[in-house]
Amino acid sequence: MRTPVIAGNWKMNTDAASARDLVAGIGQAMAELNGVEVGVAPPFPYLEMVGRELGNSGIFLAGQDMHWETGGAFTGDVSSAMLLDVGCTHVILGHSERRHGWGETPEQVGKKVVAAKEAGLKPIVCVGETLEERQGDRTKDVLLHQAEAAFAGFSESDLAGLIIAYEPVWAIGTGVVATTAQAGEAHQILRAWLAERFSNSFAESVRIQYGGSVKPDNAAELMAVDGVDGALVGGASLKVEPFVGILRGATSS
Ligand code: 13P
Repeated sequence: MRTPVIAGNWKMNTDAASARDLVAGIGQAMAELNGVEVGVAPPFPYLEMVGRELGNSGIFLAGQDMHWETGGAFTGDVSSAMLLDVGCTHVILGHSERRHGWGETPEQVGKKVVAAKEAGLKPIVCVGETLEERQGDRTKDVLLHQAEAAFAGFSESDLAGLIIAYEPVWAIGTGVVATTAQAGEAHQILRAWLAERFSNSFAESVRIQYGGSVKPDNAAELMAVDGVDGALVGGASLKVEPFVGILRGATSS
């Protein structure tokens, strides 16, 4: 039985005051929520403050990205050690806004996964196809290429605790959500690949989140899909009410 994991990816949103309110509101709701792991990924400048506010709420703190190098002349980047220093336990890697917005390649994502694991950060690795790739019947190829590049060279023990987020690019921030059949199929493709590449028991242990226009009114249905183990939430994670609604949806499914 995999515990669902739901994380709010705040992207380049919020300000310090609303971040504080958001964390307080989610923290309050945690008392009534059982059987779901919860995390937030604030923008870099707010990580330390949010980490402090999270206190011992049990909510984990994640970076939204990091460089694979441990330090050096990389203007605008942050390292794994810096994320650890401010209290992160997790880091989102390979988000489509990095891949497609900044031209990050599957191989670069792979280097980041290696660096995160070496540093002791738990990566949440995003994979997903564009609309054009889906329409061209290339979803499976794209997912497997991204997975292969991200996890090449690892053994299953190296990857213990891994979280994958299936985020179809066409569903991100669009209000268009994957159908339960589309989500189920993509998750099945990824889990079957994990079983083949590593082992059945490893594949069964990996949590695969769905991300893309998750809202309180579709969360329970998505979480109930076989193989969907939580969600990576963008827009609906920026306010207490919808985010807590999604958390409740995960516990009821
Ligand atoms: P939305 O929930 O806003 O579609 O964003 C999803 C996402 O990109 C989470 O990482």
